[in-house]
Amino acid sequence: MDIDRIYLLCLGLCLCYGDEEENEQLPRPSISAWPSSVVKYKSNVTLRCWTHFQNVIVTLGKLHNSGYQQELRSAGKEAEFHLTNLQPEDAGGYFCTYRTVASHRRSEQSPYLQLVVTEGVEEGGGNPSRPSNSKLIILATFSCLSISFLFVSIYFIYRCTKQGSSHEEAPQE
Ligand SMILES: *[C@@H]1O[C@H](CO)[C@@H](O)[C@H](O)[C@H]1NC(C)=O
Repeated sequence: MDIDRIYLLCLGLCLCYGDEEENEQLPRPSISAWPSSVVKYKSNVTLRCWTHFQNVIVTLGKLHNSGYQQELRSAGKEAEFHLTNLQPEDAGGYFCTYRTVASHRRSEQSPYLQLVVTEGVEEGGGNPSRPSNSKLIILATFSCLSISFLFVSIYFIYRCTKQGSSHEEAPQE
């Protein structure tokens, strides 16, 4: 949030002070994921970057990972980045920028696209959660039964002691 504000402020200042600057940024592109931004482990996804200009060089970047970079020459006004065999570490925020071949002007960054990689149904991953769940249910049931049994016992003990000596108070609660 704060960074966005600072960025906007800077942008405002740049626009005010640098009207004639040649490095004025191009309009920000947009980014989308196909078939979805929530994808299964080991599946594929296509990140599509839509630019406002044709035949530009599009760069795909990743948030918190300055080393990650893919470049493509766009065909028409969009570029497609194919990510295959997705791993948990592929999840995160992606964005794209573009630059024109002729003037080398850069665009602003697109908004971030949050890619989520869900865990597949693996023999190793799915099973441990099921026994722990049923263990919990058995434990809860057992606890309930024990408590019920305890109350019934107390009730009977109370009845017996009351019958045994009606003139004295029962020692148990
Ligand atoms: C993902 O892409 C690779 C390479 O293009 C392909 O071999 C594989 O079958 C694809 N996987 C799925 C789940 O579509």
